[in-house]
Amino acid sequence: MNTIEISHLEKVFNMKKKALKNINLHIQNGMFGILGRNGSGKSTLMNILATLIPATKGKVTVNDISIKETKRIRGLIGYLPQDFDFYPSMKVEEVLYYLGILSNISKSQLKNRITEVLEKVNLVSYRRQKVKNLSGGMKKRLGIAQAIIHNPSIIIVDEPTAGLDPEERVRLRNLLAHLAKDRIVIISTHIVSDIASTCEQIAILEQGSFAYTGSINGLIQSSNHKVFELTIKPSQLDELKKENLVITKVHEVESHLQIRFVSDELFEAANEVNPDLEDAYMYFLKNI
Ligand SMILES: Nc1ncnc2c1ncn2[C@@H]1O[C@H](COP(=O)(O)OP(=O)(O)OP(=O)(O)O)[C@@H](O)[C@H]1O
Ligand SMILES: [Mg+2]
Repeated sequence: MNTIEISHLEKVFNMKKKALKNINLHIQNGMFGILGRNGSGKSTLMNILATLIPATKGKVTVNDISIKETKRIRGLIGYLPQDFDFYPSMKVEEVLYYLGILSNISKSQLKNRITEVLEKVNLVSYRRQKVKNLSGGMKKRLGIAQAIIHNPSIIIVDEPTAGLDPEERVRLRNLLAHLAKDRIVIISTHIVSDIASTCEQIAILEQGSFAYTGSINGLIQSSNHKVFELTIKPSQLDELKKENLVITKVHEVESHLQIRFVSDELFEAANEVNPDLEDAYMYFLKNI
């Protein structure tokens, strides 16, 4: 079993901007989702775990090794940063060869290892293609391939599905879930559906602090009896928006609108419905 322990972690940029405040977290094998709005601190947390930037305060260990031991930690962690880009004129297998050498894999092992990871990410038939000829989804999968080239126990991927179409999104999600069977996989996102089906445990980052850590079901339960559906005329929408509620979905049904919303107050005229993760997340953000 792999473990990450984070206690009282803090990150201050330029001696004033507190990007992370008193972060405490325990993670074990499986997929862990970090959900948060733009600027909430997701990448900062991931960069610290990947040893790219130092923490200002606090303690982090990976399999009982302090992240200050950067060399040992880098051997344990595979990382796909948010804005990862490759040399466009390099071939897929050249990218992996080059990054494999940087990861200290011996040349004799590297050839087999490249084939193995290309099989895992389903890019074997593209191994001699230039990176610039790959689609966005294929580039992300190549990004995952480089992150796992040294067979790390922990994989960290920052906003992996940004810019991908729905089919590629599902494919990437399934790949990460598969890798998480015997590893820790941490993904960050601001898209709820990215983590709804694959992550059992999640954390919500809000302005550098965890607003929630725990199971997805726990979060959903906290918004029980707070989600409603109501059918209205389009002209009533502005009126409804003045109420203290958050609209999570709007469907056009013939000449009417079907509105789904979260609210702390009971709405007599509306039907109470079971919350999904998106409702729960919106309800949570409304109340912090
Ligand atoms: N190198 C830096 N120097 C100064 N401030 C920084 C630096 N990196 C991040 N920040 C600030 O820290 C906060 C958190 O940024 P971070 O990139 O971690 O957020 P994020 O949740 O990853 O956002 P996004 O969803 O947009 O990727 C932001 O206010 C950002 O401006
Ligand atoms: Mg980010």
